[in-house]
Amino acid sequence: KKKLFLDVDTGVDDAHAIMMALAAPDVEILGITCCHGNTSLDNALKNTLRVLKVCNRLDIPVYRGCAEPMIARKRHAGDFHGKDGLGDVPDPDPPSPELLKKKAVQALIKTVNENPGEVTLVATAPLTNLAVAVLLAPNFPKKLKALYIMGGNTDSRGNTTVCGEFNFVADPEAAYIVLDRYTCPTYIATWEFSCRNSLPWSFCDVLFAQDTDKARFMEKISRHTRQMAQTERYQKEVVGESAFNTCDAYALAAAIDDDLVTESEEVAVTVELEGTYTRGMMAVDYMGLLKKKHKAVIMKKVDLERFKQMLMNSLK
Ligand code: BDR
Ligand code: CA
Repeated sequence: KKKLFLDVDTGVDDAHAIMMALAAPDVEILGITCCHGNTSLDNALKNTLRVLKVCNRLDIPVYRGCAEPMIARKRHAGDFHGKDGLGDVPDPDPPSPELLKKKAVQALIKTVNENPGEVTLVATAPLTNLAVAVLLAPNFPKKLKALYIMGGNTDSRGNTTVCGEFNFVADPEAAYIVLDRYTCPTYIATWEFSCRNSLPWSFCDVLFAQDTDKARFMEKISRHTRQMAQTERYQKEVVGESAFNTCDAYALAAAIDDDLVTESEEVAVTVELEGTYTRGMMAVDYMGLLKKKHKAVIMKKVDLERFKQMLMNSLK
């Protein structure tokens, strides 16, 4: 079985990603760490338990991570994911918060150390937990099998600031540290990658029409983001037509299916920390001027039929 460890800020697309991992037959989730991001850390923790409850998998350990970024001011994405991070349709019978575990960063390091060369880390939140982990244990990333990140952008089209993508802008210093210090095989699902590979809303209707509790749950929590995505402000964000863009699920899908990505590019990347409009933007060193040995694989295209099938299966 493929061993995954997830780092999330459970909003709507993190929920999709988690459900996809849970549905994959040959995948084991060793733990889930939560981070500030789409919503407060407390909400992200509650939301993660809620997703696990819908999937009957409350046995998976969920850990409390960092509640705020390293230096940047805290920001959330409530306008898009809903104030509670999951579309503001609360669970009348939420799982007990007593299930939550503390010390996310230590749990991540320990899990990787106990399974050297075997753990694939999938990060779909601001990268604060990962940055703190490498500061505490500089060598642990060498023991990772791979790191998959949803974040950053390769052109100047931001979704949060003029030039910045949310996960990187929400903690630019953390993103910088992670891209610099995680020298394991690194794969990045950028913002425009998910935009270019997004699915028509008509697919979303088929996906959510499945007669299962999981599909009904996803339909309910996605209503708010779907409405937002179709407003003028968000239509401007996407490349081409407004479509169902479940960013985090792309990173997760690529981590569990080696044949999903059909086009990619290997290049050194870092993060801009200072610009007025560009702080938090991923800087791509196409010319190799930084002389960085470690390169990341930037995903470009996916096999959309394969991805659709994975999404469908995740709600069965
Ligand atoms: C990323 O930021 C969050 O809104 C999403 O969950 C995703 O991880 C997209 O920029
Ligand atoms: Ca996320």
